[in-house]
Amino acid sequence: MWPFGSVLFLVLVGSPVSGTSGLKTITVKAGENVILPCRDPNINQVSVLEWNRTDLQENEYVFFYRSGEPFLAGQPESFKNRVFLKNNQTKDGDLSVVLKNLKIEDSGTYKSRVLKTGTKISLSQTLPICSIHLVVSPPDPKIISAEPGEDIILPSSICLCVLQETQEERFGELLL
Ligand SMILES: *[C@@H]1O[C@H](CO)[C@@H](O)[C@H](O)[C@H]1NC(C)=O
Ligand SMILES: *[C@@H]1O[C@H](CO)[C@@H](O)[C@H](O)[C@H]1NC(C)=O
Repeated sequence: MWPFGSVLFLVLVGSPVSGTSGLKTITVKAGENVILPCRDPNINQVSVLEWNRTDLQENEYVFFYRSGEPFLAGQPESFKNRVFLKNNQTKDGDLSVVLKNLKIEDSGTYKSRVLKTGTKISLSQTLPICSIHLVVSPPDPKIISAEPGEDIILPSSICLCVLQETQEERFGELLL
């Protein structure tokens, strides 16, 4: 129940934008999971699959798969236990990965590269199979209402919170 005096503020979050130059753009809210879709029906036997992001440091990567299993020694701490093959294997040319529990900092351009079994070139000599621009937008705002003088507890570390005083005008807006 909201008294008439209260004002709710809506916060604008990013909306899907179509990409330029064949880059696919996906917009997802922080805290959700996303599938980075990638499929190439011409690929059946994958020897190496790499997902990288264009702003990572030398030799870092988002996800690496070789000899039939993930190889994650060069994965930055921030991606640990958050990136998985969508089907747990590269079957029928499906190279998609799932990125879980998204953070704002996950925004960026992701590219996948593949070495087919039996090829003799190195991964850096291949062209990316898929390029995806991921935009992670702030989560939906939560409304927290409180009586004047009341203490409140803010719910989480990822929170766009609109604090509302129940009896008077809007009290404040917090971005944590
Ligand atoms: C991933 O991309 C970054 C930025 O281009 C690069 O510095 C890094 O070496 C790449 N990782 C691998 C394993 O090639
Ligand atoms: C996923 O792969 C791992 C290791 O390759 C295996 O142990 C596990 O059973 C697989 N899970 C599913 C659901 O296929």
